[in-house]
Amino acid sequence: MKNLSGKVVALTGAASGIGRCLAIQLSGLGCHLALADVDEKGLQETITMLASTTKVSSHIVDVADKDRVYVWADEVVAEHGHVDVVINNAGVVSSARLDEISYEDFDWVFNIVFYGVLYSTKAFLPYLKQRQEANIVNISSVNGFFPFPKNGPYNAAKHAVKALNQTLIQELRHTSVRVTSVHPGGIKTNIVRNARFAQGEDDKRVLVKEFDKIAGTSPEKAARIIIGGLQKNRKRQLVGKDAVVFDLLVRLFPQGFSDLVGKIFELKEKEKEK
Ligand SMILES: NC(=O)c1ccc[n+]([C@@H]2O[C@H](COP(=O)([O-])OP(=O)(O)OC[C@H]3O[C@@H](n4cnc5c(N)ncnc54)[C@H](O)[C@@H]3O)[C@@H](O)[C@H]2O)c1
Repeated sequence: MKNLSGKVVALTGAASGIGRCLAIQLSGLGCHLALADVDEKGLQETITMLASTTKVSSHIVDVADKDRVYVWADEVVAEHGHVDVVINNAGVVSSARLDEISYEDFDWVFNIVFYGVLYSTKAFLPYLKQRQEANIVNISSVNGFFPFPKNGPYNAAKHAVKALNQTLIQELRHTSVRVTSVHPGGIKTNIVRNARFAQGEDDKRVLVKEFDKIAGTSPEKAARIIIGGLQKNRKRQLVGKDAVVFDLLVRLFPQGFSDLVGKIFELKEKEKEK
């Protein structure tokens, strides 16, 4: 979708990080916005950062609540008349090994990261198909093609989002709806600060520090790359140099690279125990 001016964009996870930057940049390009999040205060802060000419509606939506997501889609069309683009961006992460994570925490991640994307995609699709040109942008991750230890539910959910995106691309070939599967590497946002940790606050402090050090891409830059992918109707969009490097390593050494990451993780865990 080359020209975004005047288009209606529905966006989840708009209260923070990549979602907030997407809202600001889309507003700058002349889009009308329907912003959703569970964080009402953050959502209001995002709205104060938009161009004054932007027509914006704000919606408190838990993307894991199927009925609420369907009501949201109807609200968007009632308020804006139609919808041209849906960006499914809301997400959460946990840090725990599969043998220690509770089913409650597993489901928390999976329901938001995978089912949130599925519900919203299915709820908006009938409206999108009515447009001459429409786009779905679903945010997966590098974890959508390469799993990291202590990220089990996130790895599984992001792989599932990638599979959903590829299925949509196959099934929507002869419709007006284009689909972009987005795979960011480390982006400096609040995602780890908002994570659930099986091993408590100390583990969290260490990981937040580590993540802030290694996350090489700003959310502003990530949003620019994602919007670029949308404008070029890209089927797949990597975000960040680290994502490009991971993509290459996974292709060259599918098992060897995974084993190496597993070994490094094990060594780091042993060091922590000392
Ligand atoms: N930050 C990274 O390194 C990174 C890397 C790869 C992929 N991603 C993905 O990018 C997306 C955005 O994450 P971010 O890094 O900006 O994180 P963030 O924590 O800054 O923002 C996530 C937003 O999602 C919202 N949210 C959480 N649960 C929700 C729910 N149930 N319903 C509605 N909204 C909900 C939060 O309130 C928050 O505003 C996520 O899908 C994440 O998995 C992030």
